[in-house]
Amino acid sequence: MQQDNLKKREGFSSSIGVIAAVLGSAVGLGNIWKFPYVTGANGGAAFILIYLVCLALVGLPVMLSEHLIGRNTKSNAVGAFKVLQPKKPWFLVGGAGVLSAFLIMAFYTSVAGWVYAYIFKAAGGGLLSTNPKETSLVFNTLVSGVGEPLFWQMFVLLVTGTIIMAGVAKGIERVTKVLMPILFILLIVIDIRSLTLPGASEGLSFLFKPDFSKITVSVILAALGLAFFKLSVGMGAMITYGSYVGENENLPKMALKVALSDTLVSLMAGIAIFPAVFAFGFEPNAGPPLLFITIPTVFSSMPFGGVFMVLFFVLTAIAATGAMLSLLEVPVAYFTEQHNWSRRKSTLVTILGIGLLGSTATLSNSILANVTIFSKNLFDFYDFITSNILLPLGGIFIALFVGWQWGKSKVYQEISNNGQINNQGLADVFLFLVRFVVPIGITLVLLAGLKIISF
Ligand code: PFF
Repeated sequence: MQQDNLKKREGFSSSIGVIAAVLGSAVGLGNIWKFPYVTGANGGAAFILIYLVCLALVGLPVMLSEHLIGRNTKSNAVGAFKVLQPKKPWFLVGGAGVLSAFLIMAFYTSVAGWVYAYIFKAAGGGLLSTNPKETSLVFNTLVSGVGEPLFWQMFVLLVTGTIIMAGVAKGIERVTKVLMPILFILLIVIDIRSLTLPGASEGLSFLFKPDFSKITVSVILAALGLAFFKLSVGMGAMITYGSYVGENENLPKMALKVALSDTLVSLMAGIAIFPAVFAFGFEPNAGPPLLFITIPTVFSSMPFGGVFMVLFFVLTAIAATGAMLSLLEVPVAYFTEQHNWSRRKSTLVTILGIGLLGSTATLSNSILANVTIFSKNLFDFYDFITSNILLPLGGIFIALFVGWQWGKSKVYQEISNNGQINNQGLADVFLFLVRFVVPIGITLVLLAGLKIISF
C-alpha cells in the first residue's frame, strides 16, 4: 500500500524521538492554559472524570486510528486518504484537517505570543504584584494592544517555522527530544513549590473530589472537545506524525503511553496551579485569563515567586512550541507532498497564511473587537469551531473510515505490525470502539451540546 516513493521521505529516527515528538504535540497550551481554566470553570474533579472517559473511549481510539492510517500510507493528512481510497471523497476529511490546523494556529499563536511575552515581563519584574488589579492591567494592556501582541505572535511563527524548515528528524525530533524532559523537570519543581504552601489541600480537593451537580450536556461537550484538542486528534496531525513512525513501533502501546503521559502533565499543571490559587484565596474559575492574571498574582505571593514565575512561563512556552510544530507540519506536509512544493516554500506559505489569519484573532481584543460570528469574537470563534465542531467531526469520520471502510484484515495487519505483535484481542476492542462507540458517542454529544437535540 505504499505511494510511489520516488522522493526519499524523511521520518523520525528513533523510538525515543517518536515519543518525544508525539508527546510534544499532545502537551501544550491545552494542558497548562485550557485544562486548568476549563476544569476551574466547570467544577473541578467531576469534569476531570468525564474528560478521562472521553479520552479513553474516544480520544485514544481516534489517535490510534490516525497513527495506523499515517504509518500505513506514509503520507500527509490528505494524501493518506487518497492512497487508501483514491475513488472516494474521504480525502476531504484530511482537507478539513488542514483547514483546522490554520484555524487552531490562528488563536494558538496568539496565546503562545502572550506566553513568550510573559517570560520577559516576569524576568523583568513587571508581573510581581499581589494585587490582581495590577496583574489584570498588565494582561489587558498586552492583549488590547496592537503592535506588541502582533510582534510576539509573529516571533512565535518565526521560531516554529525555522524549526519546521529544518526537517522532521533534524527539526521536530531534535527539538522535542531536548524540550520534553526539561518540561517535566520544571513541572515537578513548581508542583513541589505549590504543594508545600500552607492551605494547599483545598486546591487538591477541588481537583480530586468530584461534585456531579455541575455536569450538564455542554460541560460534556467541553470535555469531549478538550480530549480531542489535548491529544491533537481529529485533524490529521497524528496521521502526519504517524507517517514518520517506523515499521517496528508498537502503535497501540505508543498511543497509550502518550495519552497517559499527557494526562499526567495536565494533572501536574493542575497541581501547580490550584493549590496555589486556593492557598492565596483566589477563585479557580477565572476562565482564559487564569494563567495570565491569577497565576502571576499567586506566584508573587509566595517566597521566591519571581523565579518560579519565570520558570512557569518558560515551561508553558516549551509546551506550546512542541504543539505548534505538529500544527504547522500538517499543512507543510500537505503542500510538499500534494503540491510538490519545497519544504521551504511550504513552510513560508503556511506561516504567512497563519500570520494573516492569526492577526485577526489577536486583534479581536482591540480593533476587531466588534467583529463577531455567532456572537463570538474571532478568537473565540476559531477556538470554538475547531475544538467543539471540526475536531469531533473529523474524529467521527476517521473512526468510520477505519471501522467500516478500510477493511478489517488491513487494520489487523497494521495494528500488529504484520502479525509480529500478538494483539488480536486489543484490535477487536479497538474496532468495536471505532465502529460504534466513537461515532455514536460523538454524534450524541455534538447534537446535544449544540442544542440540536435534548435529553
Ligand atoms: N494538543 C495541543 C494542546 O493540548 O495544546 C493542541 C493541538 C496540537 C491540537 C496539535 C491539535 C493539533 F493538531
